[in-house]
Formats: sequence, C-alpha cells, structure tokens
Amino acid sequence: MDSKLNIRSYRNEDMKVLLEMTSEEGWSFSEIDCRVSLKVDPEGLLVAEDETGMPIGFIRLFSMTSNMTYVNVFVVRKDLHGNGIGKKLWEAMLKVTKDNTLVLDGVSQMKGWYEKRGFSFEAHSARSFHGTFSFQESVTLRNSYNIVPLSDDIWSALIAYDKQIYPYSREHVLRAWFCGADRYTAVAFLDKSVVGYANIHWKSKKECNIRVLNADNDVIADTLLLNLLQHIPLGSKVSFILMEGKPIPKYLSNFKSSVTGHKLFTKEMTGIQTDKIIFHMCHTI
Ligand SMILES: CC(C)(COP(=O)(O)OP(=O)(O)OC[C@H]1O[C@@H](n2cnc3c(N)ncnc32)[C@H](O)[C@@H]1OP(=O)(O)O)[C@@H](O)C(=O)NCCC(=O)NCCS
Repeated sequence: MDSKLNIRSYRNEDMKVLLEMTSEEGWSFSEIDCRVSLKVDPEGLLVAEDETGMPIGFIRLFSMTSNMTYVNVFVVRKDLHGNGIGKKLWEAMLKVTKDNTLVLDGVSQMKGWYEKRGFSFEAHSARSFHGTFSFQESVTLRNSYNIVPLSDDIWSALIAYDKQIYPYSREHVLRAWFCGADRYTAVAFLDKSVVGYANIHWKSKKECNIRVLNADNDVIADTLLLNLLQHIPLGSKVSFILMEGKPIPKYLSNFKSSVTGHKLFTKEMTGIQTDKIIFHMCHTI
C-alpha cells in the first residue's frame, strides 16, 4: 500500500467521498463543518489518495491559537483499515503542527492509542446522540431569560461570555461556524448579560446538527433548547453531543447514543468551565 500512497491537500471534488466516509462512521460531520473549517485553515485538510487519485483517508487540522491546533476527521476507508494509511496521515499531520499543543475529540476505542502519542490530558467526555425529532407537546417556560437571535450588535457580548467558559479565544472559530446560510444561533440574556447561547445548522431541510449549547444553569439550557426546537420541523433527523453527566433533555428522550468522545490535549489545559457546557461543539475546539 505504502508505495502507492500519496498525501496531498484537500480539493473540492473530495467532499463527496469525505462525507460518505464520515457518515459511514456514524459521525454528524457535515458539509458546513468542512467548509467552515477550511475557511479557518484553507490548508488544514490532508487527504491520502491511492494510485488513481481516489481519496482513501483524511485528517483535518486547524489553528485555534498560534500554538494550539485542533485535529479531527481522522478516518480511513473501512475496507482499507489496518494497512498503515492512518499512520501516514498522522505523520503528515505532525509535520504541519510541529511543536504546537494538539487537541482532539477521540473515540473511546482509540483513547489508548492517542495517550501513547502524548494526549495525556482529558478535559471532558461527551456522547453523540442521533434521532428523529418527534416531541409534540406545547411547552411554555416562564422565566426572566430573554432569548434573541444572534446579530452583529451582540457578538462582542457572546464572545465575552464564551471566554468565561474557555481559557482561549474562540472568536474566529465561532464566527466561521455561526455566520452564514443554514445556521441559527440563539443567545440568552438576563437583563443585559449573556447567560448562554446555542447553535444549530442544517444539513438538509429535515436534517440538522445542534452544534453547541452553553448555559449558566439548567433553566437557561432548557429555555435555549426549546427556542432551537421551534426551528426544527417535526420528523427531522437531529444530532447532538451531550456532555457526560448531563441528563438527556426530555424533548429528545427518544434519541439513542452512539460513540463517546474524549477531549484530549497534549498539554494540561485548566480553566475550561465544563459545568456550563451542555451540548459539546465537537469538530471545533
Ligand atoms: C483510526 C483510523 C483512521 C486508523 O487508520 P488505519 O489506516 O486503519 O490505521 P493504521 O493501519 O495506520 O494503524 C494505526 C494504528 O491505529 C490503531 N487502530 C486503528 N483502529 C483502531 C481501533 N478501532 N482501536 C484501537 N486502535 C486502532 C492500529 O492498531 C494501529 O496501531 P499501532 O500504531 O500501535 O500499530 C481508521 O482505523 C479509522 O478510520 N477508524 C474509524 C474512524 C475512527 O475511529 N477514527 C478516529 C476518530 S477519533
């Protein structure tokens, strides 16, 4: 396999194969995830191709800060597993990322493999859920929280809130994910302060990913989630990643969990306020 294997940068025509491979793994990775991460780092998607130029594996990376890189979408075509393609992609990724601190969301089966490669610090874990949205009861929550759609004038307040949760700036990443077609972000306020936010994007008319839900408490989380769900037609396929230890919301209680992911760092990262993260935004840091 080795002699015929070539590692190159991503080309637009690779998208179809990439989405097929990630979908086969049961991942919620979408075209939006791919396009926005390329916006953050246009060179950040490496492709293993066979002798015909056909993509047979991928690994994605993008800079979170000048010395921290996020790595994911590490995948090889199923029928070619165990032939050393993954190792070649991994080595190519290491050449690009050099001495940077690396971060990834690793599936449980691979955790030991990553630990051996220096990913010794686990910040948190989270489970992926998939299902069909079918909750029909009408629910009205009465509380003091005001939910508004994200707009330019509240971006700085949202970013300031995000900094209470993550000890590094995520502005360029959040802007890439939240701005654009087929996305909706709801922001929760108490008086003039942001106390939570949540985001969703659509893969198609009746298929969407809830990408993030961060909130100061359970009531805010519930209020934000209900607001998001008003934008999702009944019968839609929905995916989300629920932080370990958080209960599955009653509106989505028919959903089934698949893989567990572990947020692993190569250097200790203190200060992530995991208690405020309800739905984890995998595919980004
Ligand atoms: C993980 C993956 C990309 C590795 O690619 P590959 O071409 O099959 O891997 P290689 O033949 O180069 O072997 C790389 C190593 O991965 C290990 N590995 C592969 N799949 C594994 C699994 N499910 N559990 C544990 N280790 C695994 C191999 O044992 C090998 O270990 P070694 O370096 O100690 O010899 C590929 O197996 C895959 O696509 N898996 C499904 C998607 C996935 O889980 N990706 C990781 C998400 S965090």
